[in-house]
Amino acid sequence: MDKRFTIFTYGCQMNRYDTETITGYLNQEGYESCDDPARSDLILLNTCSIRDKSEQKVFSQLGRLRKLKRSNPDLKIGVCGCFATREGEGIARKQPDVDLIFGTQNIDKLPELLKGLEGGPTYDVDPLEPEFANLAPIRRNDGLSAYVSIARGCDNFCAFCVVPHTRGPEWSKPSGLIVEEIEAAVGEGFREINLLGQNVNSYGKKVPGELTFGGLLRRLDRIDGLERIRFMTSHPQDCDKDMISAMADCEKVCEHLHLPVQSGSDEVLRRMERGYTVDEYLSKVDLFREQIPDGVLTSDVIIGFPGETDEDFEGTLRVLKKSRYDNIYMFKYSPRPGTKAQSMADQVPEEVKAERFNAVQELQREISGKLHRGLEGGVVEVMVEGPVARKASEDANCGGSGGKLVQISVVSPKFAGRSRGNHRVNFYVEGGNPRPGDVVEVKVLRGALHGLEGISPPGAVVMEEWAT
Ligand code: SAH
Ligand code: SF4
Ligand code: F3S
Repeated sequence: MDKRFTIFTYGCQMNRYDTETITGYLNQEGYESCDDPARSDLILLNTCSIRDKSEQKVFSQLGRLRKLKRSNPDLKIGVCGCFATREGEGIARKQPDVDLIFGTQNIDKLPELLKGLEGGPTYDVDPLEPEFANLAPIRRNDGLSAYVSIARGCDNFCAFCVVPHTRGPEWSKPSGLIVEEIEAAVGEGFREINLLGQNVNSYGKKVPGELTFGGLLRRLDRIDGLERIRFMTSHPQDCDKDMISAMADCEKVCEHLHLPVQSGSDEVLRRMERGYTVDEYLSKVDLFREQIPDGVLTSDVIIGFPGETDEDFEGTLRVLKKSRYDNIYMFKYSPRPGTKAQSMADQVPEEVKAERFNAVQELQREISGKLHRGLEGGVVEVMVEGPVARKASEDANCGGSGGKLVQISVVSPKFAGRSRGNHRVNFYVEGGNPRPGDVVEVKVLRGALHGLEGISPPGAVVMEEWAT
C-alpha cells in the first residue's frame, strides 16, 4: 500500500514551489498526498526563517504534532526549508520527535534521504551545488498560475536578511531548462507563470553566454499557449532598462513590478547594504512609469531598522508618496541570527516600531484607495478564475464610489479573477459564462482598498446609475 504524507508550507512563493517539487519526489517514491495529518505516515514542515515569528511557528506546530507521534510511533516527522537549513540538527535537539531534517539545497536528494529514514533519524543540510541536468519532478497545485523558479539563492547579503544563509549562493537555472519547464506546465493547462528568484534582475549575469533577465522575458514571451508572465522579486540595484523595456515590449509580461524599497533614508539604505540611494531608486520608478504608463508598482518596507530616526522614517513616508505604490508589504524589523544588523547598536524599541507601522499603514491605505478609485470607469483585462458564491445582499447591484449605486440590468452571475496589474477583480457577467482561464474585459465600477468590482462585457450592462 502507498504511504501517505502531509506537508505544511510556511513563508514565500519560493517555499510553495519547493513544496511542489518535494511532492513530486514523494509521489515518485510511492507516497500519496493526504490532507489529514492523523492518517499520514510522514508529516513535513517546509519552514521559513525570515522573521523571528516565522521560526516560532515551527516549534508551535511541532508541539501540536507530538500527540500524533505518541498515538502513532511509526509516524515520521520531517522539517525542511529555510529554518531547517539555518538551524540544522539543532531542531532535533530541541524537539527529539523530529526524524528527518533537510535543507533547501538538499531537495534533490530526497529519494536517498527517505531510504536513510528507514534506518533511523536522517539529517542533511549540507549545501549542495545544483546540477540542473534535468527537470526535477514537480507536482503543481491546481490552478491557472504555475510557479517556476529561475534562480536559487542570493549573493546580496542585505544586512537584515537571513535568506543568503538559508538558500545559499545564487545559481541561475539554464534558460533552456526554464523553457522546457514552462512548456510542460502549459501542456498541463497552466495559463500563467510566475517566475521566482530573490533577485530576478541578476539572472544569468554570472553565467557566460546565458540570457539576461530581459532576454529571458523576450524568449518566454514566444511560448505558445502561455497567456501571462509575472515575476518576482526585482532588486532595485539591478533593475535596469533591459528589463523594463522587455516588460514594455512583451505582450505576455504583465504590467506589474514589485520593487522593494525597504527604506526611504539614504543612511538606512547604506547600513542595510542595499546598494542604491533614494534618488537612484526613484529614477527606476520614473523609468518604469515612463515606459509603462498604466503599470502597477508594489513594494516591501521595513520599519524600525537599527538606528532608524524619526527623520529617516519621514523619508520612508516621502518615498511612499512619491512612488504611489498600489500596495506594499510592511514588516517590523526582526533581528536575525548571523546577519550584520543583528548586532548593530540602537535597536528601535517595539513601541516606536508599532507607532511607525501604523503611520505607514494609514498613509498606504489612503494611497491604495485613491489609486483604485482612479480605475473606476476604465477597462481592465481579467483572467477568469471561477464563479464567486453570491451573498443575497449582493444580488444585482454593486456599491459604487462616493455613495453611488450601480444597478445591473439582469441578475448576472458573479466571477472572480485577476487583472494584468494583479488586482483581484470580482465582476458580473452578462450573457454566457466564462470558463476558468478565459480572458475577458471588465469595466471597473468600484475600486476598493483590496480589489476591484466591475462588469463584463464593458459596454453591455449598466442600465441606470443614481446617487443615493
Ligand atoms: N529578495 C527580496 C526579498 C525577500 S524577503 C528583495 O531583495 O527584495 C521578503 C521581504 O521580507 C523583504 O523585502 C523585506 O522587506 C522583509 N524582510 C527580510 N528580512 C527581514 C527582517 N529581518 N525583518 C523584517 N523584515 C524582513
Ligand atoms: Fe535578502 Fe537582500 Fe537577497 Fe533579497 S536581495 S533575499 S533582501 S539578501
Ligand atoms: Fe522565503 Fe522565508 Fe525562506 S520568505 S526564502 S521561506 S526565509
